[in-house]
Amino acid sequence: MNSDIENILYSEEKLRETVEDLGRRITRDYKGKKLLLLSILKGSVVFLTDLMRHIDLPCEIDFMAVSTYGSGVKSSGTVRILKDLDRDIRDYDVLIVEDILDSGMTLSYLMDLLYGRDPSSIKICTLFDKPERRKVDVYADYSGLKVPDEFIVGYGLDYAEKYRNLPYVGILKREVYEKKE
Ligand code: IMP
Ligand code: MG
Repeated sequence: MNSDIENILYSEEKLRETVEDLGRRITRDYKGKKLLLLSILKGSVVFLTDLMRHIDLPCEIDFMAVSTYGSGVKSSGTVRILKDLDRDIRDYDVLIVEDILDSGMTLSYLMDLLYGRDPSSIKICTLFDKPERRKVDVYADYSGLKVPDEFIVGYGLDYAEKYRNLPYVGILKREVYEKKE
């Protein structure tokens, strides 16, 4: 285990089971629809690439990059679009694929923005949810695993761009970020 990790919260196996289950539910719900998986860079990339292989339907993928956090562990509260979609989403059934729903600021902002572009439907699939930290009312249609109010890394999630490649999800030792803040 990486020495900056306090403990492993979810193992590779648990993550695999969870992602498979989400894929099955999406497959069941999106039959006959024009599914666009919209991955929010960069945290959800690992999740997206696993999830899409468990969706047994035609689908397309696209990416948006937004910034809420900078390199710290607390949300700045402002959302900036760093990269927009490559396409017009009218007529698409958009499923936002997000790594973690925390304060909800990012997804609330994105939902408003994307609704204005007139898609057929728009829903949210998040792998992790920290319900205790919610500041705005956002509801995930598909939600994988609940997370306590701790800072987690791995399986795509970072601290200061590191740890995304860990195959499991762990709680980051406080000393790693407290000495820098
Ligand atoms: P929200 O706008 O506060 O819901 O923030 C969501 C974004 O914050 C996620 O997409 C992550 O990039 C980041 N984030 C929130 N909590 C964590 C965490 O525990 N570890 C890593 N990134 C996190
Ligand atoms: Mg993110």
